[in-house]
Amino acid sequence: MDLGLKGKVALITGGSSGIGLAAAERFLAEGARVVVTGRDKKKLQSAAAALRENAPAEDVAVVVGDVAKPADVQAMVTAAVDNLGRLDIVVSNAGSRLPGNIDTLAVSAFETYWRTKVMGSWELARQAAPHLRRQSSGRFIVVIGQEGKVPAADTIGACVTEAAQHAFVKALSDHFAKDNVLVNAVCPGRIVTPMTEGLNLEGERYLGQSLEHQESGWGLKVPLGRMGAPEDVANAIAFLASERASFLCGTNFDVDGGYQRMIF
Ligand SMILES: NC(=O)c1ccc[n+]([C@@H]2O[C@H](COP(=O)([O-])OP(=O)(O)OC[C@H]3O[C@@H](n4cnc5c(N)ncnc54)[C@H](OP(=O)(O)O)[C@@H]3O)[C@@H](O)[C@H]2O)c1
Repeated sequence: MDLGLKGKVALITGGSSGIGLAAAERFLAEGARVVVTGRDKKKLQSAAAALRENAPAEDVAVVVGDVAKPADVQAMVTAAVDNLGRLDIVVSNAGSRLPGNIDTLAVSAFETYWRTKVMGSWELARQAAPHLRRQSSGRFIVVIGQEGKVPAADTIGACVTEAAQHAFVKALSDHFAKDNVLVNAVCPGRIVTPMTEGLNLEGERYLGQSLEHQESGWGLKVPLGRMGAPEDVANAIAFLASERASFLCGTNFDVDGGYQRMIF
């Protein structure tokens, strides 16, 4: 299926590893050009070098920046337009994990997470809006997670933040729809990325289990019997960004091998 992405420009926050990097690879494979961002310059440079192995060097731009800082977000959007000439697709993906319950989670950690995932997306949408509206089919895709739908005591900060992300996606999609800028979300289940490597230590500390044990335990609960790969999520992102998703607006896709129990 031709996704109709050739020549488009996609800005992917948190594009230096995991899901964001896989999305950038997928966009390049579809003939799009990409701007990838992250806070760690070295990590970003090595991601760019990997991306340029399979694409023209000029099709990949990088911006070092923190999405929690409005000036950095502005620099990301400006880089897309100045270096690649336009902006068609934004993937608001930057983020991390936030374990902890009301007794153990530091308020400052929750605030940083909220600023990254909610305020970062908000600022990104605000800054990108004029450029996305200029295209006949702009796309704004938010990577959320599963906790916003299934609250749990031990991830209270992520639950609250992700619930807000769902509300943000729906409200923003209504506002942008009249300009044919389509706003949607993906909700990854457990995906094997550098972020989930951290589960090893955390698991040993909290659960006394190795990552391997947790992976197989998790895999058993997933109808498809495995943890996901970044490419699984990247495929859903590429579809939502594509011309083939032209009547999808304000929705969210669970990319979780069937794990999610909610049917609405
Ligand atoms: N993997 C999963 O199972 C899973 C499940 C549900 C949701 N998610 C969500 O999916 C997204 C991608 O996660 P991943 O698993 O691919 O993790 P990852 O491999 O650790 O990638 C995270 C990316 O975000 C960047 N980043 C983090 N905080 C940032 C900030 N404040 N400003 C700019 N860039 C930032 C990181 O680079 P720097 O650290 O250099 O900034 C990196 O490029 C995250 O939002 C995560 O919460 C993942």
